Amino acid sequence: MTDLPQMNWNYPTAIRFGAGRIKELATLARDAGMTRPLLVTDPGLAKLPIVAQAMAILQEGGLSGAAVFSDIKPNPIDANIDAGLKVYRAGGHDGVIAMGGGSALDAGKVIAFMAGQTRPMWDFEDIGDWWTRADPAGIAPVVAVPTTAGTGSEVGRAGVVTNSESHTKKVIFHPKMMPVYVICDPELTVGMPRFITVGTGIDALSHCLEAYCSPFYHPLGEGIAVEGIRLVFENLPKVVADPGDLLARGHMMSAAAMGATAFQKGLGAMHALSHPVGALYDTHHGMTNAVFMPYVLAFNRKAIEAKIDRLAAWCGIAGGFDGFLQAVLDLRESLGVPHTLEGLKVDGARFEEMSAMAIVDPTAGGNPVELTLDAARDLYARALEGRVQ
Ligand SMILES: NC(=O)c1ccc[n+]([C@@H]2O[C@H](COP(=O)([O-])OP(=O)(O)OC[C@H]3O[C@@H](n4cnc5c(N)ncnc54)[C@H](O)[C@@H]3O)[C@@H](O)[C@H]2O)c1
Ligand SMILES: [Fe+2]
Repeated sequence: MTDLPQMNWNYPTAIRFGAGRIKELATLARDAGMTRPLLVTDPGLAKLPIVAQAMAILQEGGLSGAAVFSDIKPNPIDANIDAGLKVYRAGGHDGVIAMGGGSALDAGKVIAFMAGQTRPMWDFEDIGDWWTRADPAGIAPVVAVPTTAGTGSEVGRAGVVTNSESHTKKVIFHPKMMPVYVICDPELTVGMPRFITVGTGIDALSHCLEAYCSPFYHPLGEGIAVEGIRLVFENLPKVVADPGDLLARGHMMSAAAMGATAFQKGLGAMHALSHPVGALYDTHHGMTNAVFMPYVLAFNRKAIEAKIDRLAAWCGIAGGFDGFLQAVLDLRESLGVPHTLEGLKVDGARFEEMSAMAIVDPTAGGNPVELTLDAARDLYARALEGRVQ
């Protein structure tokens, strides 16, 4: 493929894919039933032309009651959701345009979900069937507009919010949290700082890779994951070398959406070890996963060796499992990902607490080898000392 096509995709939700598709924002917001959307984004993006452009498109499309809410932190916290809900209700809004990276997308989705609920947000944590406590009629529609290519939150049915009392990341889940429409416009990702391009790109890789390695039976997810991994290996180096490469940016947006589609199959220890680090040290989610990736692959080897041999062949990587592990190490190094936790300014001071958090993280259960307390301690120590094998 030499040119990036314009496509309309209908699973996992309705996706408008292609350069320049942001111009359809007002039409899609209307089609989703909105007359006064609240555009939820983060403070950094709120100052950038891409948000001003989105607001102009809404105004020109006749949605003059549209407003911006941007008071959210990277790794959004409960207070950010409360503040957004106040603005949403006071402004008489009737839907959310969630625009940004995972932080803004998650915050926007959770605000829309909470818009008409009477119970507190933590009652809807992703535990058992807690989602059935929600009133589906109280969930406002969402149009999602990703500006990073990584989390895939735009096609996810959950939002990650940090509980500011317990300093833990919690997942708020409901099947109806899936955005009604998604605009995957790679032009919006061109201005990402290099660090965010790399961190989010490796987050997409970690979603695909952990979903692929998870032992649960979900062949649909497994198939999607495999091609997502190939796309990241091929295109992440290209977007880092040439940020304006729209074809490669488009493929990275696809890989991000594929990762989140695939990880209904499960995630694993990369995410389980990364979440406590993000919650305690406020590090970037994807960059933190990137640090753990080779250590977790080596730890899981006995359960995934044959699968990774097949995967390596699909990706055009010689040498089976060892070749694949080396390709991950080479990719990280070429992109400037730190090899150890030191690069994230994390030392061993809180390893005991972090290990206890990691083994109860909801993603730990998807790891192909059981993540015991001893294993978590060992993996943190290895990631600090740089001992992969
Ligand atoms: N819902 C899910 O399924 C899911 C999956 C993985 C991660 N997450 C969550 O997503 C969050 C991380 O999201 P993220 O990695 O996309 O980062 P982010 O949303 O925190 O954004 C990082 C930074 O990049 C900036 N930025 C974003 N797009 C830009 C652009 N186009 N140009 C310039 N600057 C831009 C933002 O302003 C911000 O400062 C975490 O809270 C994580 O827990 C959610
Ligand atoms: Fe992730």
